[in-house]
Amino acid sequence: MNTTIDFNLESFNKASLKVVAAYEKTKDDKKTAVLSWTDKDLAKAFGFIKDTADFTGSKGSSFTFTAPDCTTVLVVGLGEKTKVKSEGLRKAIATAYKAIAAKKFKAVTIDAHSFNAINKIADATMIMKEAIELTAYSFDKYKSKKTKTSFKEITLFVNDKKAKRAIEKAAIATENITSSMNFAKALVDETPNALHSVEYAKRVEKDVKANLKGVKVKILGKAEIKKEKMGMFLSVNAGSAHDPRLVHLTYTPKKVTKNTKHIALVGKGLTFDTGGYSLKPGAAMAGMKNDMGGSATVYGAFRAAVLNNSTCKITCILGMTDNAVNEHATVPDSIVTARNGKTVEILNTDAEGRLVLGDCLSYASDLEPDMIINAATLTGACLVALGTQVCAVLGSDKATKRVLDVAKTSDEYAWRLPIIPEWREEMTSHIADLRNIGKGRFAGTATAAAFLENFITDGIEWAHLDVAGVASDQSHLPYCPSKGGSGIMVRTLHNLLING
Ligand code: BES
Ligand code: ZN
Ligand code: ZN
Repeated sequence: MNTTIDFNLESFNKASLKVVAAYEKTKDDKKTAVLSWTDKDLAKAFGFIKDTADFTGSKGSSFTFTAPDCTTVLVVGLGEKTKVKSEGLRKAIATAYKAIAAKKFKAVTIDAHSFNAINKIADATMIMKEAIELTAYSFDKYKSKKTKTSFKEITLFVNDKKAKRAIEKAAIATENITSSMNFAKALVDETPNALHSVEYAKRVEKDVKANLKGVKVKILGKAEIKKEKMGMFLSVNAGSAHDPRLVHLTYTPKKVTKNTKHIALVGKGLTFDTGGYSLKPGAAMAGMKNDMGGSATVYGAFRAAVLNNSTCKITCILGMTDNAVNEHATVPDSIVTARNGKTVEILNTDAEGRLVLGDCLSYASDLEPDMIINAATLTGACLVALGTQVCAVLGSDKATKRVLDVAKTSDEYAWRLPIIPEWREEMTSHIADLRNIGKGRFAGTATAAAFLENFITDGIEWAHLDVAGVASDQSHLPYCPSKGGSGIMVRTLHNLLING
């Protein structure tokens, strides 16, 4: 779905569907619903309609009427004006989009000004643009009947010619973010029989070559991963029909000084997680195509930050394999040697993400970045601790604080969990340096992070994002598909990468 931004009243008047906002009255307001519409005649017509008495503009409500010129008007209730925040606006536009998508309108125009409760017309317009482009996403390649809307684009009408330049510039940046979020969602939605490690690496490489000019691509296959002595990574791939892939992308900004920050992103790219010999039960295994969600998240953020000309140097490392079972698959009780020389007792082959990530984190550490941020659908325990709406963040004080701060201003929920010395101790083995699972069921998200910490070189700031809850199935967010990839945390990571 394209969104165009128009600054001319004539185009607004040509729309067959006009979308406008209304707010709930406060104690001081006399009217039933409060409007600040660009088209005063429309507002007048609305006032004449008796039924409006029932429509108060409350949050989540809507009202449709036919204007004297026969255009349809959809009035979207946003609640009390002073209480509207950016996320509320994003949700309201997403809900409105869903309401009109199935209807037969030729030209849809939104009166952006009427929705500008946050009093920043450029920001409000961008949030609306974002909401439309995210909500319009659908993964229908395997459907015989494709999703179609009768309108090809939605126009955002901005009654402020002075804001034109700033808004047009911001629109490009916004589109770079939404297209990257949607790209990440499509990777998550792709099936494991189509998107195995070899194919996944190819798709990322193809996208980089097509869209990210100047980004260097290095792809390590099985032989190179062996050469890197990534014993943990290889142990996960041992039972697979597909070779592993480590995708290593490098973006260097146009201007590099000694103050240029280098941030490394690392992502868990398990194209399917059966659990290996510690096989998952059927109900827990379904949905494990999403186990590459962390790598899709960091790639999406990398892509958006590169397109938006980040001033940081950015490395992106994606560890790709599936976790399958055949006669070569790793059996529990095996001991393997990690890239950094530490030995690891594998007690549960379903705790595989940390094995792939650990070796990738050691590889990233050797590049000596200022900060490493990794994302992974690492633990089911993350869903127990924080549910499906909050991303867990663990790691060094500085890096976690940075992620939490940016998440807050990016309208995404993130919460820190601790790593305590006792849990570091819990991850040591009686027979090797480390064990790949904790000793009990509790604090699984944190013990996993305590394991990962062993592969970060001292002195490098590090944040681990457990996206097990948020990377998919965000049915509570109207701008995300109710099932499938969500793109959540791409916006936060993009914003972090842009400002360093
Ligand atoms: N990919 C899973 C984690 C997961 C579970 C993500 C549910 C999304 C939804 C991970 O590889 C895994 O299986 N972790 C185990 C660890 C355990 C064996 C210590 C888990 O969470 O049960
Ligand atoms: Zn697993
Ligand atoms: Zn997994």
